Amino acid sequence: MIVANWKCNGSRAMLDEWVRSYLNEKDIQLDNSCLILIAPPSVFFNELSDKISKNNINIFLCSQDIAGMTRKHTGAISGELLIEMNVDKFCIVGHSERRLFYKEDNQIIKDKVVECFQNKINPILCVGETEGENSLANTKEMIEKQLRIFENESISEGTTIAYEPVWAIGTGKTPNPKDVNEIHKFIKDVVQSLSLNSLNPKVLYGGSVSEKNAKQFFSEEFVDGALIGGASLDGASFAKIVNIKNGMK
Ligand code: 13P
Repeated sequence: MIVANWKCNGSRAMLDEWVRSYLNEKDIQLDNSCLILIAPPSVFFNELSDKISKNNINIFLCSQDIAGMTRKHTGAISGELLIEMNVDKFCIVGHSERRLFYKEDNQIIKDKVVECFQNKINPILCVGETEGENSLANTKEMIEKQLRIFENESISEGTTIAYEPVWAIGTGKTPNPKDVNEIHKFIKDVVQSLSLNSLNPKVLYGGSVSEKNAKQFFSEEFVDGALIGGASLDGASFAKIVNIKNGMK
């Protein structure tokens, strides 16, 4: 599974260029079973969805956020609205930028995850440590706290966790893939033991993923894909990463 998170980037002109360069680079000879999602700014849901279907591209739209069950307020987007827009498969929840700049704590994020479950939308929950926590060797402890939101919840089959070390986002710095693999195994074990139905979630790596380093991450046993920011804004770079994943099956 490969997910593009465009954050607040994009323009109507960029959509055409993105689709053109993605199609130009995408290798259709490869096994194409990898699930591919784009989370654009919600103002582009309609236009991007039209372009994807007109060009027969096998990409689903994903939301960057959702209002919690109790937070359907001004400026927010609810599960019902996402379903109305056919963005009903996946939704990113708890990105570190939401935690940091919008003061979303575990309670708020849990509320959003439950809103996803109630609308049968799979959450992609982002977790990860800051640079300071990393240097104090507190990574697992921090992640375990963030995963507590699954305590006493029955999770959906498609529930996905994105491990995004905060210090790797947009910095060009990446952790060692072997360390990422160990954290992913830890995340799977913790979610399985916390959740009521003991499902094993998919775990994506996110943080400065590019066509240069993607193969190293995808070669690790417990890395099920990637959540990509900067490198997903260029259709050709994104397609190269998708080709790498599809070529490794
Ligand atoms: P970059 O790939 O730009 O580091 O962003 C990662 C991210 O925040 C994806 O959610």
